[in-house]
Amino acid sequence: MIKTNQRDELIRLAREARENAHAPYTGYTVGAAVLTAKGNYYSGCNVENATLTMTTHAEGNALTAAVRGGERSFKAILVLTDNDPPPFPCAICRQSLAEFDRGEMLILAANTKGTVRETHLGDLYPEIFGPHELIR
Ligand code: THU
Ligand code: ZN
Repeated sequence: MIKTNQRDELIRLAREARENAHAPYTGYTVGAAVLTAKGNYYSGCNVENATLTMTTHAEGNALTAAVRGGERSFKAILVLTDNDPPPFPCAICRQSLAEFDRGEMLILAANTKGTVRETHLGDLYPEIFGPHELIR
C-alpha cells in the first residue's frame, strides 16, 4: 500500500520521463518511476537503439537510476504508456525487479487517460528466480 500523494508523484514523474523517451523505431513511448523504501523517487524512459536488441526499457532505466542513487529496496514501480488498458512491465523488466524484490513490491500500470491498474510482482512473476537461488 502506498499513499495517494505517493501514487500521484509516481504518475507525475513517469509522465515527465515519458516525454524524453527515445523511440524513433516503434513510436511507443514509455515512462516509469520507482518509490524506494527510503521514500525517494527515480524515473526512467525507454531508450531505443538502431541495433534494436540494445533497446532499454523505462522500468529498467528507473531501477538503474535508483541503484545509482544507493537504493536497493523498493516499495512500488509505476509504468505509464498510452495503451488502454495500460500494460504491466514485460518479462525482462519483471526479472530486473526480481533482483531486488521477492514479490511484495507494488506494480502500477497507468495510462495517459488516467486509468491505473495495480498488482504485485509475485502475481506477475510467480516462482520468481532471484538472488535467493544463488546466495543461500
Ligand atoms: N518497453 C518498455 O520500455 N518497457 C516494457 O516493459 C515494454 C517495452 C519499450 C521498449 C521499446 O522501446 C518499446 O517499448 C516497444 O517494445
Ligand atoms: Zn520491459
